[in-house]
Amino acid sequence: MESSQRRLNTLSRHLESAPTYASEVRPGHTECPVTHHDYKNVYPRLLDNRPVRVLVTGAAGNIAYAIAFAVARGELFGPQVRVALHLLDIAPMADALKGVTMELDDCAFPLLAEVVATTDVKTAFTNVDVALLVGAFPRQKGMERKDLLKKNCAIFEEQGKALDQYASRDVKVVVVGNPANTNAAIAMANAPSIPKKNFSALTRLDHNRAQSQVAKRLGVPVQNVQNVVIWGNHSSTQYPDVNLAYVEDFPAKGIKTPVRPALNDEKWVQGEFISTVQQRGAAVIQARKLSSAASAANAVLNHMQDWLQGTPSGKIVSMAVASDGSYGIPADVMYSFPVTCASGDWKIVQGLKLDEFSRKKLDATLQELQEEKTEAFSFLKK
Ligand code: NAD
Ligand code: LMR
Repeated sequence: MESSQRRLNTLSRHLESAPTYASEVRPGHTECPVTHHDYKNVYPRLLDNRPVRVLVTGAAGNIAYAIAFAVARGELFGPQVRVALHLLDIAPMADALKGVTMELDDCAFPLLAEVVATTDVKTAFTNVDVALLVGAFPRQKGMERKDLLKKNCAIFEEQGKALDQYASRDVKVVVVGNPANTNAAIAMANAPSIPKKNFSALTRLDHNRAQSQVAKRLGVPVQNVQNVVIWGNHSSTQYPDVNLAYVEDFPAKGIKTPVRPALNDEKWVQGEFISTVQQRGAAVIQARKLSSAASAANAVLNHMQDWLQGTPSGKIVSMAVASDGSYGIPADVMYSFPVTCASGDWKIVQGLKLDEFSRKKLDATLQELQEEKTEAFSFLKK
């Protein structure tokens, strides 16, 4: 009896220790921090080797279908950190959610410690460290993102309250469901016990789209273009801005050139480039008859990886975060800024000089966000 207890103790110690499954992680992601200790600054409580709890809402939907498997594979926290996936969807999707759970089981992911698949908000939000709020009614052909406001703001009011009551106190939140900025503002307003700096909305997909458009135009590998940034709303008023951007190895190896002179085409920079990025979501819907999903999931991973692990020196990314008044954007407006990240915190890049064109673009997208927020909060009061 005693010896079987000893065997059990040994076995459970063995199971608790973090395994190395580097081969499970795709090349390109192996630079992730690899142990819980790498996250000490981000989640001070993660010292006991417990799994990181990651909530994905809209878990039976398209974007979540790509995110959940990537997180379980180790793409968010690296090859030695176990994760527990909390998957939330609405009751009519319970069967589909069961199917996703079956597939996760069938992948036999070594890092996946637990799956909590549920249609109950409290169960889903309890003790989560990361909340990827994807679930919402998606935009359909002919709709503007703000048409979704009425349908979706009640969801984010409820989920803000759930974060407030049940999530880990240092939970980091990214809202993907549209209209993402305003939904994030609603969640934040309903979670007063969670620091405002822990809320964000996804504009990384727009950022990646902008980077890709510039690289194509210059005919260079996409990774040679850096620091194209997105200001404002994840909508057709967003301002994709090349003023901070540069291109490596252009026009020749070893030379780094600012993107604007490299492009040498003001008409394209101020016209087609901006409208292509602004309208890219609608163009994908038009073509797929469904909104973007794999690219959105990829952007969520990029967003969280940079936030948690920090941006490499000199790299600027785009995140919609609660404004601190920078660049005349009123405090608490959930606005996409150029940011850098370190030790689990983001910082808005300061001291940029804005020309008249940029200023107008920043103000136009701000105006839309303010109108959206006023409208959303008026629905919620009813
Ligand atoms: P989808 O319709 O495939 O999935 C959405 C899922 O959310 C569905 O399973 C639905 O049942 C679920 N859901 C609805 N209400 C819910 C609630 N209260 N709680 C939990 N789950 C709920 O849609 P998708 O393609 O996965 O897109 C999801 C959202 O992301 C949409 O709002 C879409 O417009 C948005 N989106 C944002 C970006 C971005 O860059 N910010 C990019 C692409 C898509
Ligand atoms: C996108 O940008 O692809 C999504 O926000 C979908 C949409 O509604 O445009």
